[in-house]
Amino acid sequence: MNAPLAPLYSAHLATLRTHADQALALGGFDHLLIAAGTPPGKFLDDQDYPFVASPHFKHWLPLTDAPGSWIAYTPGAKPKLIFVQPRDYWHVVPQAPHGYWVEHFDIVTVRSAQEAAAQLPKGRSAVIAPACPAIDGVTVNNPHAVLDFLHWHRSFKTPYELELMRHASRIGVRAHRAAEDAFRAGESEFGIHLAYLEAARQIDAELPYASIVGLNEHGAVLHYMHFDRTPPAEHRSFLIDAGASCAGYASDITRTYAAAGHGEFQALIDSMDTAQQDFVAKVRAGQSYPELHLYAHHVIAGVLREHGFIRMSAESAVESGVTSAFFPHGLGHSIGLQVHDVAGFQPDARGGSIPRPAGHPYLRMTRALEPGMVVTIEPGLYFIDMLLAELRDKPAAADVDWARVDAFRPYGGIRIEDDVACTEGAPENLTRDAFAQAD
Ligand code: GLY
Ligand code: MN
Ligand code: MN
Repeated sequence: MNAPLAPLYSAHLATLRTHADQALALGGFDHLLIAAGTPPGKFLDDQDYPFVASPHFKHWLPLTDAPGSWIAYTPGAKPKLIFVQPRDYWHVVPQAPHGYWVEHFDIVTVRSAQEAAAQLPKGRSAVIAPACPAIDGVTVNNPHAVLDFLHWHRSFKTPYELELMRHASRIGVRAHRAAEDAFRAGESEFGIHLAYLEAARQIDAELPYASIVGLNEHGAVLHYMHFDRTPPAEHRSFLIDAGASCAGYASDITRTYAAAGHGEFQALIDSMDTAQQDFVAKVRAGQSYPELHLYAHHVIAGVLREHGFIRMSAESAVESGVTSAFFPHGLGHSIGLQVHDVAGFQPDARGGSIPRPAGHPYLRMTRALEPGMVVTIEPGLYFIDMLLAELRDKPAAADVDWARVDAFRPYGGIRIEDDVACTEGAPENLTRDAFAQAD
């Protein structure tokens, strides 16, 4: 970590308490009770899926291994952590709380989730927890007014959160470097994945999302999570979308590489990289994110023209849906405690949803940017058989150079993704800063 966390955490907690006070007043509640959650069990089995703590829980403290635990907050009082440390010789028991944050909590250690529930204050409580399993004596209500208010404010990262996100980016970048080396050494997707995990020092279950490690045509599968165990006959291209976690915060990073000798694909990557950096530069206060997404379609139309894939104007490529065949996902999303973070569509703290622009069903962010928000900027350009087949049946197909398209299918596609903080001035690119530091 580059900055001492204790003072940053103290200010972060003060902000959270203010927001919790306001949210509880709004909903008419006396207490805020937040469950860490418990790992879901596998069907007809005695094993659980990996535990992932609730983002609301992780917002209050950097405890990611605390199944069954709760935070209980009553305005005006010190927050309480009811920490479950089971008597268990089958598993590693979660470590007793320690570190810069513990002095801010009254900590009660109990031995089971049932005992934890018994420690919760009684009264009118906003209970934020997965709704499914009944918890003794606790009625889970996840009140909308409270959630919408808290989600809205989660959009604006505190300096403490930004520091953790910078570190998540640095871990991810270290691992991306190792993955690129493994690609250039001729590894399989599986081998590259192992190199990534080793460099990140995180296991799959700790990553904020399942890594996408695609060689050649596999870059065209947007969520390719297969990991071929043997290397392909030839390494032409490599798309890796993989992040890392830090105290519950995510990074989300994508890079695309061409193998030596594949200069035309490298030139296309270079054009997309220039375009991506242009979009990043527009992450400024007041910028409408959906307008930035539509602008990206126009710029990508220009890239398609410049590289000889289409002959029509950028305007008609966007209007006729041609760019959507090559760039079929959103420009990005908000990121933080969740890789696809909350409140991407909210017009304000009272909830609601700003609709997506027509024809762009996968955009995850329809708000205007404000200082403190962190978003991804992840334009893509792919050669996806299914979408190209649909495009071939449209009138616009006459203005597509299909031989050129076919020549690029073996490369799969390109995505370049950075995590970018909106500030009062120039954007902070967490990802590129981490790459620059790693050089
Ligand atoms: N890795 C998921 C995404 O980029 O949104
Ligand atoms: Mn993303
Ligand atoms: Mn990603």
